[in-house]
Amino acid sequence: MTLAKAHRDLRLSNKSLGAILAVITSLILIDSSTAYSAQDEHNRRFAVELAVVAGDMRLLQQDGLTDRHRRGLSDRIESALGFIGLTGRKALRISTRQDPNLRRDIARLRSRFTAGEFATSEQILQGLQQRYPLDTRGFLPIAATSARLKRGREIYRNTCRPCHIAPDTARPNPAHNLFRDAAEMPREEFVARLLGGVRGVPETGLENPLPDEDLRALLAWFMHGG
Ligand code: HEC
Repeated sequence: MTLAKAHRDLRLSNKSLGAILAVITSLILIDSSTAYSAQDEHNRRFAVELAVVAGDMRLLQQDGLTDRHRRGLSDRIESALGFIGLTGRKALRISTRQDPNLRRDIARLRSRFTAGEFATSEQILQGLQQRYPLDTRGFLPIAATSARLKRGREIYRNTCRPCHIAPDTARPNPAHNLFRDAAEMPREEFVARLLGGVRGVPETGLENPLPDEDLRALLAWFMHGG
């Protein structure tokens, strides 16, 4: 075999190796975004509520909050803790495991939060979040394809922007700038807020949650568009 031919063969096999790698990569990409069964609705909701309460507790301890916003966050946490027990029991009921401590932990969480013991409340929350984690596969990492960016932009402009572009800060819980949240918040927390938030505001009139693919489009838009 001449050196030139050997070289050509090598280039050829490099090429086919490249093609094989491309196929494998696309299979992995398909797999990570679609080929798993998503978390059931109740476990997702419970995990979202836990993550949002934990995030609100983090925000509550930030410096420089106005009294109104502090009150607003505190009320929001308190009201979330009021119904989180029900969501938790539904989540537990449809999974096959046992969790004899769930009811007790939620009761403790409520009483510790009401007593102003944030550190203990956060500890209890962390324990719950470990047992009921949010399944973010399919959302993180997000592939910001041009189709998603286009769709995300469209939903944002048509549905979200009026309230979120210039939040009414006179409200106890003003809407946030979602691009800033996407850049500054822990990613998992932002995803949780997106999964829970879009139907969480009564004024939006969105009775049903957006389909996951629309949520992925919004996530791509907030993280990589705008
Ligand atoms: C009618 C006004 C309005 C519209 C329309 C609206 N939002 Fe909101 N949104 C709000 C307000 C007000 C809040 C803060 C409410 C609160 O904290 O209780 C909020 C909160 C959120 C949150 C945070 C939720 C949380 O748990 O912290 C997310 C995420 C969000 N909105 C996303 C969206 C997206 C995405 C759209 C469009 C599909 C949208 N919103 C449309 C007013 C609106």
